Amino acid sequence: KTRIAVFCSGGGSNFKSIYRSIAEKPLNAEIVLCLSNRSQCGAMEFAHEQGIATVHITEKQFDSFDEFADAMVTRLKDAQIDVVLLAGYMRKVPDAVVRAFPERMLNIHPALLPKFGGEGMYGIHVHSAVIAAGEKESGATVHFVNEEYDKGKILLQRAVPVLQGDTPEILAARVLACEHQLYPDALEKLLAEQRS
Ligand code: GAR
Repeated sequence: KTRIAVFCSGGGSNFKSIYRSIAEKPLNAEIVLCLSNRSQCGAMEFAHEQGIATVHITEKQFDSFDEFADAMVTRLKDAQIDVVLLAGYMRKVPDAVVRAFPERMLNIHPALLPKFGGEGMYGIHVHSAVIAAGEKESGATVHFVNEEYDKGKILLQRAVPVLQGDTPEILAARVLACEHQLYPDALEKLLAEQRS
């Protein structure tokens, strides 16, 4: 079975949808680790409930950024992780960690990349920017993670309409519902590609 680690910072609704889809489909994969920069959040709570191992790790716990990055790699190697899924992880992953998982680390972004990505574009800020730009559609993107923030090769993308009167919160909810379908589909695609 492909051993998966999910990285989260918040509610973890994408983590939950991936977890459920693995339980329902014969994906031959297993989420074995939840890593977070927050000791308490919806994602970590869910991991505890499901008996999934958790790692709470932040830069502040270490003397240097390099030590932090090395510790992250070590934890992932110790858990024999094959694939890393960033699911609402609101930190940039250290380059050393990205390099340890070439073509095996995915992120979900709540917009149609390459538009509305990059520094400062996360969570609700993305949806505010999409509405302010007068876009007619937004959506979600699952892409490979490389050392350039939000710039890795796109694996799967799906659009949703931006409707008259949308607030960032309303649009966020529509995009999130789309993400819950898209991320499991993207994982399935990745696993199929890895096996072929
Ligand atoms: C999701 O919309 C995800 O795309 C976004 O944060 C939300 C997390 O929700 N991620 C980013 O903005 C990353 N740059 P969740 O914790 O309920 O899955």
